[in-house]
Amino acid sequence: MNHEIVQKPADTTANLHPLVRDRWSPRIYDPEHNLSMAELESIGEAFRWAPSSSNQQPWKLVLLTRGSELFESIASTGLTGFNQTWAPDASGLAVVLAAKTFEGKDRKMAETYFDVGLASSQLVTQVESMGLKAHFMGGIVPEKIREDLKVAEHEVVCVIALGKQGSILGKDEAIVSRETAPRTRNNSSDVYVIDSIL
Ligand SMILES: Cc1cc2nc3c(=O)[nH]c(=O)nc-3n(C[C@H](O)[C@H](O)[C@H](O)COP(=O)(O)O)c2cc1C
Repeated sequence: MNHEIVQKPADTTANLHPLVRDRWSPRIYDPEHNLSMAELESIGEAFRWAPSSSNQQPWKLVLLTRGSELFESIASTGLTGFNQTWAPDASGLAVVLAAKTFEGKDRKMAETYFDVGLASSQLVTQVESMGLKAHFMGGIVPEKIREDLKVAEHEVVCVIALGKQGSILGKDEAIVSRETAPRTRNNSSDVYVIDSIL
């Protein structure tokens, strides 16, 4: 095991599939790694084949690769706070968009976000299955991203950093401490019950 590449499997004794157990949200990415066209297509297809209410598919996805004009613009001015420091090293940024209308009528956005969340989660599981990592970011500047991508009919929901996890060696304490901090969750008894009431 390479200890410079942090691993943070879910702390549970339950028998979880490795794609679920081992997924986590790293902030250190290998700035030399590039996504291939085949990998980008798999990521896009995983998103496209997600379930949605009445199969309305109220989503779009824009995949950007490091070095492209759009990637660099969004990485430099479309992210907020700490995201601005680490996300530019990712190999790709997936911009997740939600449709505001369906067949000319306004959509119920709560339902739309549910569908978009399912598709995004499926995308992340696909990324994990490819030996890569993904990190959701809500710390974004939606107006700037909408302007860059020229999307009027859609809302920017989040951006997902994609890439090959990088080593903590030589990285600043600010990022290493976040990277090595334990993953925590609410107690299982506070989250779910079996044959009982909450
Ligand atoms: C919708 C959404 C938005 C998030 N936004 C950010 C963000 O802007 N920056 C960040 O570093 N992490 C962000 N995260 C990552 C969460 O902090 C992370 O998923 C959570 O702490 C659990 O950690 P884990 O994914 O490693 O299990 C976001 C996650 C989600 C689902």
